[in-house]
Amino acid sequence: MDRTARSVNQLYERYPYPSLPIRNERDLISKLHTNVMSKILATAGLVPESFSGKEILDAGCGTGEKSCYFSYYGARVTAIDLCNSSLKRGRELAERFNLKVEFSLCDIADLRTEKRFDHVFCLGVLHHTSDPYLRFCVLADLCKPGGTVTIGLYNRYGRLMHRIRRLQIGLNAGENIDRRLEYVERSIYRRKLKSTHEQAYAADKYVNPYESYHSVGEVLGWFNKNDITYIRSHPHTDTGRFHALFTQLKWLIKRNGFFIISGRKN
Ligand SMILES: C[S@@+](CC[C@H](N)C(=O)[O-])C[C@H]1O[C@@H](n2cnc3c(N)ncnc32)[C@H](O)[C@@H]1O
Repeated sequence: MDRTARSVNQLYERYPYPSLPIRNERDLISKLHTNVMSKILATAGLVPESFSGKEILDAGCGTGEKSCYFSYYGARVTAIDLCNSSLKRGRELAERFNLKVEFSLCDIADLRTEKRFDHVFCLGVLHHTSDPYLRFCVLADLCKPGGTVTIGLYNRYGRLMHRIRRLQIGLNAGENIDRRLEYVERSIYRRKLKSTHEQAYAADKYVNPYESYHSVGEVLGWFNKNDITYIRSHPHTDTGRFHALFTQLKWLIKRNGFFIISGRKN
């Protein structure tokens, strides 16, 4: 693990993300789909009913809810993460619903496998790594021709106001994870954080020791260099240089700090 990975890992070992409150099948499938999966899948033009028998890589799977969702629909899922506590929760979740997911402890940069994947997902991960493009190239290489790559990243424009808030948190609470989270509780939520999920959400959003910011144009450049054709993004953006810039300025105003973008490997 490099220095960035070590510091990021300290946070997730303590607050595994997203630690969703999954009590039953409805929470895992319908609720997850309504809340997030439909938007993610739409960027790649996918529906869960098409997953049966497909090889899916969930890179930086966190507590494994999305991996289990893919597996529920019959995909063969490989899920990797740097965080032991998250993987433990993922394995427990899969066991609870009798789902088969191959969870492993691994940095994306070190992932070596003979497998090639129909769909690669890497959501909210690369911007917490020292070299996002290097890891993107690993993922792009592991995708089959005709397969899809979907990544979720913090946006350079949409996250601008949030960066000011992070600066303020750093100035008031320093680097210590617990002190920072206490400060967030006091000054932003103004109440005790209620659940494990809420703590994980707040820790990921406000306390993370390392994050980088990316533009649509930058990711389209990554796609281009790796022979990947853009499909769609959420929130929607046109890909022309000025259109993309204009869209991202709107994200700044609306504070859309996170975007999901998919492409197809040629
Ligand atoms: C914000 S969470 C996202 C979890 C999951 N993808 C989701 O969308 O719910 C980021 C995850 O990336 C993992 N991670 C960070 N750097 C990584 C790396 N270099 N290789 C693999 N996983 C990494 C963290 O341990 C953490 O679980």
